[in-house]
Amino acid sequence: MTGRVRIAPSILSADLIRLKDAIAAAEAGGADWIHVDVMDGRFVPNLTFGPGIVAAVRRVTRLPLDVHLMVVEPERYIEPFAEAGANVLTFHPEATIHGQRHVSAVRERGMLAGIALNPGTPLAAVEDLVGEVDLVLVMSVNPGFPGQAYISAVTDKIRRVRALLDARGSKAHLEVDGGIGRDTIAAAAAAGADTFVAGSAVFGAPDPAAAIRELRRLAHPRP
Ligand code: DX5
Ligand code: ZN
Repeated sequence: MTGRVRIAPSILSADLIRLKDAIAAAEAGGADWIHVDVMDGRFVPNLTFGPGIVAAVRRVTRLPLDVHLMVVEPERYIEPFAEAGANVLTFHPEATIHGQRHVSAVRERGMLAGIALNPGTPLAAVEDLVGEVDLVLVMSVNPGFPGQAYISAVTDKIRRVRALLDARGSKAHLEVDGGIGRDTIAAAAAAGADTFVAGSAVFGAPDPAAAIRELRRLAHPRP
């Protein structure tokens, strides 16, 4: 663990008519990654973006694009998102059968591979993949919608994922997603998260750039 904090604003909460301006504001605030929530209406009860949006965002920023697949059979989309310019590709293990194969396929396409754990998904779902993944995403809401409340029981799960990564000598990023804002980011950081997705706390704020700076300040890196 380097102690470096990464803030990944989610464009799910941006004004999509002004997406380019939203990304510029995120950059001005020092965002590290741009988080893109891909939902298929099957794995989660909502529909959002496909590779076309990722390709469009790719044209207006050099920041790494952190693509979060909330879709069934994510393997069908590895190639299209790689082509579109994704840098990080994360999927949920329940959504597929051969997770290990798909982690390899994501890496072979030159992207970082992430595994996401829903609040009700046990750590065991990632345990055998720890040596091969670049990121573990701990969901602190049930995925589907922005603006939900952080589930505080997840803080302990972040701690357990951190312990697992440290015990295996993994340098994987530990990302937390859902309900992250001024009141919750410090607890998630103290538990060992280093990468923070924030949708409504950034794009719902009057000044998104200032909101990012404030979140970073509150997420004191561990000593
Ligand atoms: C939830 C998505 C999140 C969402 C976070 O299904 O995976 O990335 O955009 O939004 P906030 O930060 O508003 O909870
Ligand atoms: Zn997400």
